[in-house]
Amino acid sequence: MVPSGQLIAMEEIKRRAWQDLTFGLLDGWWRFSDSYRTDHALADKALWLKVLTDTGYGEIEFIGDGGVTADQSLSSVLIIAKGPKEVTSSPGVWVIAADANGTAEKIATELTRRNQRVIFANDEAAIEGVSDQKSAMIPTALEPTKRESWRSLLENLPTDIPLRGIVHLMALDGHGTTASVQQMTKDVTRGTSTALALTQGIADANAIPNDGVWFVTRGAQTLEQDSINRTSGELAGATLWGFGKVMALEAPHLQPRMIDLDPDPNADSDSSVVNELLFSDVESYIAFREDARYTARMIRFGSDSARLDLPDESEWCISPNVPDNSSATFQVKSQPRNSIQSGEVRIAVDAAGLNFADLLISLGAVENSKEIGREMYGRVLEVAEDVEGISIGQSVVGMGFGSFAPEMTTPAALVSPVPSGHTSTDLATLPTNFVTAELAFELTKLKAGERVLIHSGAGGVGFAAIQMALNAGAEVFATASSPKHAYLSSLGVKHIFNSRTTEFGGEILKTTGGEGVDVLLNSLTGEGFVEANLSCLSTGGRMVEIAKRDIWSEEQMTEYRPDVEYFILDLDAIKSDDPVRAGASLSRVISQLSSGELTPIPHSVWPLSEMHAAMQIMRDARHTGKVVFRMPPLVRGNIRENRTILVTGGMGGLGCAVAQWLADHGAGTIVLNGRRDPDSDANEVIQNLRDSGIDVRVEVADITDFAAVDALLAKIDADMPPLGGVVHCVGVLSDGAIENQTWKRFEKVLWPKVLGAWHLHQATRTKDLELFVLFSSVTGVVGNPGQSNHAAANAFLDQLAAHRRALGLPGQSIAWGAWSGIGEAEEQRQRVEQ
Ligand SMILES: NC(=O)c1ccc[n+]([C@@H]2O[C@H](COP(=O)([O-])OP(=O)(O)OC[C@H]3O[C@@H](n4cnc5c(N)ncnc54)[C@H](OP(=O)(O)O)[C@@H]3O)[C@@H](O)[C@H]2O)c1
Repeated sequence: MVPSGQLIAMEEIKRRAWQDLTFGLLDGWWRFSDSYRTDHALADKALWLKVLTDTGYGEIEFIGDGGVTADQSLSSVLIIAKGPKEVTSSPGVWVIAADANGTAEKIATELTRRNQRVIFANDEAAIEGVSDQKSAMIPTALEPTKRESWRSLLENLPTDIPLRGIVHLMALDGHGTTASVQQMTKDVTRGTSTALALTQGIADANAIPNDGVWFVTRGAQTLEQDSINRTSGELAGATLWGFGKVMALEAPHLQPRMIDLDPDPNADSDSSVVNELLFSDVESYIAFREDARYTARMIRFGSDSARLDLPDESEWCISPNVPDNSSATFQVKSQPRNSIQSGEVRIAVDAAGLNFADLLISLGAVENSKEIGREMYGRVLEVAEDVEGISIGQSVVGMGFGSFAPEMTTPAALVSPVPSGHTSTDLATLPTNFVTAELAFELTKLKAGERVLIHSGAGGVGFAAIQMALNAGAEVFATASSPKHAYLSSLGVKHIFNSRTTEFGGEILKTTGGEGVDVLLNSLTGEGFVEANLSCLSTGGRMVEIAKRDIWSEEQMTEYRPDVEYFILDLDAIKSDDPVRAGASLSRVISQLSSGELTPIPHSVWPLSEMHAAMQIMRDARHTGKVVFRMPPLVRGNIRENRTILVTGGMGGLGCAVAQWLADHGAGTIVLNGRRDPDSDANEVIQNLRDSGIDVRVEVADITDFAAVDALLAKIDADMPPLGGVVHCVGVLSDGAIENQTWKRFEKVLWPKVLGAWHLHQATRTKDLELFVLFSSVTGVVGNPGQSNHAAANAFLDQLAAHRRALGLPGQSIAWGAWSGIGEAEEQRQRVEQ
């Protein structure tokens, strides 16, 4: 039982003759040998109380013992008790393969405090500040990449107490998620080569730790899509999750388990990790994030949230269903293409921002409004005859209604051409939030030196308003829920308050010496919030209300605070009634973006098909910045023809199949990369594609030769349509049981996948890609005996894809099973048959 764990037991507490007669025939009924039960198998209530109290349990309750009499049959009692805060664990030895940054040291110190002896091993084994636990902590220097070193350490462990566990923390020594490719090489080498040597040393020494082998990583798993621009954590550690899964199949007696620590080392709780080590349960894949413990689950596709099945043709839109039990659900609704009206344009939507209004409409909280999707970035498909200044093919941002669709029509006045140099999802963050903020400050005439309070500062309008207010020279006060306060500070906000209670009113008055703020941008609703706002708004102050419901009318405000200039800003109404006013504001925003005064809103990107999940994130207020939907490239029937798609490993079995598939789906230019010239099979595919009018280029370059890859990307920039996608198909196998593996063979398998993908990730980060697909394998997810290196490489790819999505970049990892007919698996099958 973990410290403070809850015991729930159903027990018989009365002795009854019929039970002795029935169960008395079984040996086990009489085979008890503890000091509490001296003459009978069952303990009565008094005895249970004594046992539980003796062992440190408290808050003991017996439920259902009232009516039990000797003659009542089969009545049991429920015992509930809370475990002791401190649990003394049976003593044992722990071998710690230590990191250099102090995490291992903290864990080791905590282990020694809990009655454990620690062999603290690393290259130098220097530990500071543990002098008082010297006897319990034995620093040992070794060569962690050498199996002989580990063998010798494990063969010379103390023999007076058992070996309880081996904990590998060397994957924590990394350079973070912005590591250069050279640093990533070091990081993966440090984590994976030491894990390999350690596992081999354990096998050589025939060591069997009672509580298993643990691989501890930090931020090597991406748990939430809403972690924006995370730069902490060591993605290199993801390899160990694949490695450990193979180890679990090859050496189950070693009970490999993985713990992924919070990406931020400051969020660590040493006791959580130590509790996990000392009181392990059935879970093998564990992650800690702040105070929460997560365990991995494989779930059936579509069973967690209804993923929308988006048709390939373009005459549809996503529409909310009538809310059920106040939860929002959506459907794909057919929407025949109407001819455009005077003053309108038709746009192919590439990316669309999600706004709080969309959520409210979906929940049925806004009357007379059904259409969701109020902004987008896309390309102009059609222009009405009377429209000037916008032409077909132009890239634009715009506002309107119904942008969660492959195409939308909207008044040309609500659309603005965009400058180059920004990604499609960056641009999709702009219209609604910046125009709202811009119009709000236009109404209030915010001036330099004035104080402005911006509620929900970590949201989309908040971010836009903070930038604009700071640019205007105002002193910014902002609110957000407390986990988002650090983010607000990073935006340059000095005065930050909690948005969940009304205490900000009094606190702001105090901070401003009783004067309050001059301008207030409100989006918070709830009992007492308007009053709290008005309590800190200065005499003659200006307030803009952008909330959609439970807001005060102008009359109410005049009655309560006649001195306040009060504006209700309803952007949807302005878009409908006065599109020129809304559009003029959008043009001003875009020109400030072009001049560098404004930057797009940090955002997470979601495929449109995951609308349910994204809406839920917004509903729970777990997002920071903006949520943007990306239109799947195939929704309009095709990949964009005027883009180049790079296929690495493109001359291999699957690479050629991918090239054919891309061509079938509209790709115009395909670059096939490989280490050598195409063989006859690949040449045949290439020739057929060229004959059908596809521009296929063959570029020979080793994907781990980064200068050569940079030259290849430069060539695409110079001579071909802009890069629109990457499909990373390289792969090399070098199978063998972990015991027989070598680091050289690991490198052969790891680097093309891991470093190839990492380099492409970094080299294309600022390009507007619509695809970044990594060919991974099911071995990285469930393991496969003999493929520890392959599993390690693919587990990395899976996390890189998730990491990219968290950064707002496209990223998919496909964990293929074995293909038949083509590719490496087929060749292996044929070799085996031969
Ligand atoms: N086939 C399957 O059933 C299956 C199952 C699961 C996952 N996958 C994954 O799908 C991808 C493609 O598999 P496949 O069966 O098509 O394999 P494949 O026929 O062996 O093709 C892989 C290609 O990658 C190239 N390559 C290897 N290292 C490279 C490097 N450093 N630089 C440039 N090119 C390099 C290889 O070129 P060389 O000829 O020069 O080595 C080869 O053309 C791999 O990532 C694989 O792990 C395949």
